[in-house]
Amino acid sequence: MKVLVIGGGGREHALVWKLAQSRHVTKLFCTPGNPGIAHHAECVTPADLPAFAAANQIDLTVVGPEVPLCAGIADQFQAKGLRLFGPNKAAARLEGSKAFSKTFMLKHGVPTAPAGIFNNPADARAYVRKNGAPIVVKADGLAAGKGVIVAKTVAEAEQAIADIMEKRVFGEAGAQVVIEECLVGEEASVMAFVDGRSFKIMVPAQDHKRVGDGDTGPNTGGMGAYSPMGVPVDATEIFTKTLAGLQAEGIDYRGVLYAGLMLTPAGPKVIEFNCRFGDPETQVVVPRMDFDLVEACLATADGTLDKFTMTWKKEAAVCVVMTAGGYPGSYPRGQVIAGLKEAGKLANVAVFHAGTKQTTAGLVTDGGRVLGVTGLGANISAALERAYAGVKLIQFDGAHYRRDIAARYK
Ligand code: AMP
Ligand code: GLY
Repeated sequence: MKVLVIGGGGREHALVWKLAQSRHVTKLFCTPGNPGIAHHAECVTPADLPAFAAANQIDLTVVGPEVPLCAGIADQFQAKGLRLFGPNKAAARLEGSKAFSKTFMLKHGVPTAPAGIFNNPADARAYVRKNGAPIVVKADGLAAGKGVIVAKTVAEAEQAIADIMEKRVFGEAGAQVVIEECLVGEEASVMAFVDGRSFKIMVPAQDHKRVGDGDTGPNTGGMGAYSPMGVPVDATEIFTKTLAGLQAEGIDYRGVLYAGLMLTPAGPKVIEFNCRFGDPETQVVVPRMDFDLVEACLATADGTLDKFTMTWKKEAAVCVVMTAGGYPGSYPRGQVIAGLKEAGKLANVAVFHAGTKQTTAGLVTDGGRVLGVTGLGANISAALERAYAGVKLIQFDGAHYRRDIAARYK
């Protein structure tokens, strides 16, 4: 079977690493891929992806990032009779529009924070003044993970409304805002395979969004993750109600549905939906899969998940992300990376590339998040020891990583 993966970050490296282990795969392509992915797949950059898939008789295309899904890549593949793992454009709106997603959840009784949806700043300000702070202001559209402001004061919330709706700092993504109650609790990322008719929930993971130890500093794309979580997480009701709602709306959701949850005293509530695998959560969830990922993707795309048995390794996984100095602000590229070979030789360590590039000077940094170092072990502390053993062998100028990944684990 020929498989194509779309994307080129740490999430896609973990997916390609796992897909390469499948007994069904005879050839793997990835676009654009990265130097780590290139160990397992042929990296290509065709201009027309459906044409490439058709010409190369690709049996399965797996999409990593949200942008192509929200733009309708699944619909394009479907129109050509090509099998793709990932939701169509209508289904991807659960991530692509926070206004759509919030309206959907409120309508179908999916537990979430109460909210107002506004397309003019005056009404948005009035809602903030009426409800007071803390309060959360969200740009409706895709904003690369930056469109959410957890405002501690009314003034901060009003500033967010001005930035998003009037200054349009996130462009058209700010034409509407969702303003919601600030939830308190532990966060959990729960992903499920959804095939339009049924779902299979994956093991939960926790992400670390802030750049600094002790959850300080600005939000990032994710500084690390671990799985399992130290607290029980039951997302069955959330996925059951969500799938029923999708069916009632006539939306055929096939792919991964990611629920970002707040574990509140009143039970888990959805903070956000994503229409894809999480990053870096995938770097800890994929190594725990005790099944063939190709088979899971086929069952999801073909609507036969109910017959698929999904088992998980008991082992724990911890991923520590190494970033360029300065990230998530401006940062240099092109720093030479040393020690990868040594780290790669460690038992129970997998190094996933996120932002790297092969040059004549060797492997260099080429992004904010550079590498994700995943350790596996019998429990979280053993996995954590492995991950940091890997991190300690890797060097590049300005390298930053958090020292407290999974330290919250209880
Ligand atoms: P999102 O991009 O929707 O995942 O939001 C980014 C982060 O903002 C989340 O991981 C939470 O830490 C925080 N957040 C979003 N919505 C809320 C909320 N209603 N209450 C508290 N924190 C929130
Ligand atoms: N780790 C959060 C996300 O993938 O959106």
